[in-house]
This record gives sequence, structure tokens and C-alpha cells, in this order.
Amino acid sequence: MADTTYYIDEDVGQDIEAQTGDEKLPYKTLGFAVLTHGEQPKFLARKSLTGEVPEGSDSSARLEWKPVAKAAMKKAVNFAKAQKKKADKEQEQLAVRSKEEADRKKVLEESKKIIIEEDASLPEAKKIKLDDTDAEKIKLGDGKDVKGTRVRVFGRVHRERRQKDLMFITLRDGYGQMQVIFSGPLAKTYDALTLTRETSMEIAGTLMKVPEGAHAPNSRELHADYFKIHAGWKAAGGEEAITNRVSKGTEQATLLDLRHLTLRGETASKVMIVRDAVEFAFNTVYKELRMRKVSPPALVQTQVEGGSTLFKLDYYTEEAYLTQSSQLYLETCLPSMGDVYCIEKSFRAEKSLTRRHLAEYSHVEAELDFITFDDLLSHLEHVMCRVLEVTLADPTIKQHILDLNPGFKMPERPFMRMKYSDAIDWLIKNEIINEETKEPHKFGDDIAEAAERKMTDIINKPIFLTHFPAEIKSFYMMRDKEDPRVTESVDCLMPGVGEIVGGSMRIFDYDELMAGYARENIDPTAYYWYTDQRKYGSSPHGGYGLGLERFLAWLCEQHTVRDCCLYPRYFGRCKP
Ligand code: 4AD
Repeated sequence: MADTTYYIDEDVGQDIEAQTGDEKLPYKTLGFAVLTHGEQPKFLARKSLTGEVPEGSDSSARLEWKPVAKAAMKKAVNFAKAQKKKADKEQEQLAVRSKEEADRKKVLEESKKIIIEEDASLPEAKKIKLDDTDAEKIKLGDGKDVKGTRVRVFGRVHRERRQKDLMFITLRDGYGQMQVIFSGPLAKTYDALTLTRETSMEIAGTLMKVPEGAHAPNSRELHADYFKIHAGWKAAGGEEAITNRVSKGTEQATLLDLRHLTLRGETASKVMIVRDAVEFAFNTVYKELRMRKVSPPALVQTQVEGGSTLFKLDYYTEEAYLTQSSQLYLETCLPSMGDVYCIEKSFRAEKSLTRRHLAEYSHVEAELDFITFDDLLSHLEHVMCRVLEVTLADPTIKQHILDLNPGFKMPERPFMRMKYSDAIDWLIKNEIINEETKEPHKFGDDIAEAAERKMTDIINKPIFLTHFPAEIKSFYMMRDKEDPRVTESVDCLMPGVGEIVGGSMRIFDYDELMAGYARENIDPTAYYWYTDQRKYGSSPHGGYGLGLERFLAWLCEQHTVRDCCLYPRYFGRCKP
């Protein structure tokens, strides 16, 4: 409508559809007016009333409607054209998307008609685990002379991707991963088209070498001829897909609430698999040393490492605790079983949220009879290094460790030995102060976690820190004959983690033990069975406890011990 006039008021106008553009309801910009009505009509505009009035000019003139300038009109026309182009493109894309959606629906409908049957004329498929590489049993086809073995595998979809008419699936079964290829009708089935991660599958096919230059686990791929997703095996998709619930960016607390899903991730599962290997290695090494495994109780009525970290509970009509350490029970086994060890849970009601404290942890403890303090240190060094050797002897486990901790190196032997008094001097010299007193460290201080870690990180190798003052250690520790202020005690410190082992020679003299109870204000009554060891054939003996999660945090370079156990328990967390 060429004879219609539209009005533009930069100050009070509005660029909305409800606006008519007449004098009472003007637009805000010429661009919008042109976009709405084209460039034919007449446009009148007035400048902002709120703009500054130049000195000496007539402010009332600013209220007049004036025809728009040519340049402004050109700009507005260009703007309108660009906007129109954008809107057209969006419309086009929407149409493409709708068509794609309709096509997809059609393809999905069609896909439901494709039914896969296993071809009974094919050779029988051997059931294997995904890491099975037994060359006797399994041949990899090369597409020419060698025929691949037909196998049947079971696992969960770790990753999946489509490439034209092919579908690549990385299947995972806890033992390994396998690349699987669906082609032809298999890739066109409804289940294949809607496949979600974590779905459990049964797949049969022929194992082939991967083409030159391509990479896949064990350099092979399964060319599937049959697959089945049994009822109930499909994993949730969409909003509920595992990738929407746990991912790299997910908050730590959520990851811990969803630990059952986090455990399926590559890092968590590798740590757990290494943990199994390490625990097994401890058993192996202790057996090599002819040590016997025992299983002391978790429900106890005595403390070992101070009353402040005891979990108390009602035990029928009595008070009992969750054990802090099995040490005292191990000591009672020496006379009848020889050297003993256990791998049991220990509990500490620590109200701390540090990265190395758990409320429930796995404690590797050993007790050795008729030894000297030096024997204890040599044994400990041997066990730790041999456990590493046995663990790393398994190539899969070694690879997991290197994936988690690429810089891992076997510790050099002998471990550095440092007396507590020398550590105090070292801390003073390196100006690492006592955070509690805000003063330089002095003999008798309990070296706090932060200072201990700083020292270990600077020295950057395993340290046997020995001869702690009796007053900062437990009641049962044997004093050093040369310097009775200190005990024959040892903490093993590792870079990145700090203390991972605590051990000592045990008091074997009755009176000294009584003095130990008294020093720590412990009523000896409940300890009658422990004291009796000093009445019925006492012996020089000693032992230690190693925190399995701390050992793993060091070995697998994990920031916290929480990531080194299945379902961590610590101050404020007892789920899932
Ligand atoms: O130094 P601790 O308290 O020593 C004992 O319990 C001795 N009775 C052991 C023995 O001689 N049989 O603990 C030993 C080790 C520590 O070095 C540490 O690795 C681990 O147990 N540990 C913890 N790990 C995780 N969370 C906690 N709250 C821990 N407390 C100790």
C-alpha cells in the first residue's frame, strides 16, 4: 500500500507485530518497518526525545515527523533483505529436518520388518571372552588364504558409530574390548538403528585382521553375521542415556552418587582391575614367604590406634567397636601359626575429608615372629617391590597401570631411610612450618599430613621414616634401646600420597606393656588376651599395616583414595 504512511519513533516505538505503525503505535526502527511492509509505503520518523539537545537548537523541532533520509532507507532495505533471507533459510532447514525425520521414521518402520536369523549352515561359533587371543583356538581371517574363526561374544556397547551403511561397535565385557562391524541387513535392523550405549548384546561372526593402517583392540575385528539383543538387555537412551548421567564434566558428588555407573568408565574399571591384581599379588607374595592368612573379627571391644577414631555400636547388651586394625589379633596367631597376614576391612571414624582418609578401608596387615627392626624394614621393602613385580608381570595389568600412571617407575632399592629426628631437621631447614603451632617443627611434633606430603614430594622417592617418639605413637610400640625417647617404628611415605604403611616392633615385655597402657590411659581389663601373649612365651616380633587404597592411589596415580575402592565410605557418605 504505497499511500499508507508508517511512523518510526526511536524513543517510544516498538518493533513487535502487535504494533500497527500508525502515529499512535509507531515502530522503533525503520528496518523493522520495511521488513514488515516493504519499501513502497511512506515512512516518517522522529528522533529520540531523550537524546541530548544541542545548545541553541529548537527542541520542539525534534518532535516533528520527518521523511526518512535516503541513506537510512537503503540501510533499512538491506536489513530487511538479510532478515528475509535468514528466515527463508530457517524455513528451508526446518523443511529438510522434517523430511529427514519423516524419512527416519519410514526407515525405522521398514527396519522392523528385517528379521535376523542365525545361519545354521555356518560353522559353529565358539564362545569366547573379548580378550581371548589364544592363537591355537582362534584364527584371524585375512580375506585371502586364512579363514577366520567363527566366534560368539557377549558384552555391552561401549561406543558405537555409523559410517554409511556400516556400523562399528566397540563391545566391552570386563576382560577386554572388541571392534565389531555390522554390514548389510544387520546394520539396517531396528535394534541396530536404535542401539544405545551399555546395551548388552550377543554377537556371532568371523574374526578378521584389521585392515593395514587401521587400529582396533588386539588388531582384529569381528565381522558379524548374527546378533541378538535379548528382552530386557537394551540400555536406556535419550535423556536417560548413560552419557547424560555420567560424563567428564559431571560434578564429583553426582559421580559418587552414581558410582554404580561411574564404575563402568575406563579409568574406574582399570583401577578396580588393578586393585584385584594387587590384592592377589599380596596373597602370592605372602605365600612365597610361607606366611599364613587369617581372618580376625571386625567386631571388637579393644582399640588399637586411639579412641578418637572408634566407631561405637550396641552389641546386644555391651559396647563394641568396628575394628581399627587386626594387628592385636594377628599377634595372638604367631605362637601357633608362624608368620601371619590378613587383608581385612579396618574402620576409622575420621571426621576428615582429606583425599587420603576413608571411614572403611582395606588393610593389608602382617605380623612376623622372632625378628629385629632391620628385618622388619627389609621384609617390608621386599614385599612392596615383589608385589609390584608380580602385579606388573601380567601384561594387561601392566598396560592398565601405564595408562593410568604413564610415568610409573619401579622404586629403587634400598628405600631411603630417614629417622624422625632427621625429618624434623629437614623440615626446619626447608622452612616447612608446623601448621598447628605456626612455628618451626620441633622434636615431639606429630608431623601433619600436609608437611609430610610436601617433604615426600620434594624428596620424590619412597621413604622409610623411622624412630618416632613414643608419645605420639600407640601404646604397643617397642622403644629403641639406644634412644628410649623413640620407638622402633616405621611409616613408609610415597610421593603424591604420603604415608601408606605404618608398622613397628611390638613391646614384648609384660611390664613395659602395662606402662604403655597407662601412658595412653587404657584400662588393660579388656586387653587380657593381648597381655597374655607376654605371659605365655613372649618373643621379639613386629608387623605393619598397609592401606590398600593408598598403595593404589600411588600406583595408579589417583588423586584420592576414594577412587581406589568400589563404593567409598567417608565422613558424610554411606551410599550407594
Ligand atoms: O598407621 P596405622 O593407623 O597403623 C595401624 O593401624 C597398625 N595397627 C597397623 C599394623 O601395624 N598392623 O594404619 C596403617 C595404614 C596407614 O599407613 C594407611 O595406609 C592406612 O592404614 N590407613 C588408612 N587408609 C585410608 N583411610 C584411613 N582413614 C586410614 N587410616 C590408616
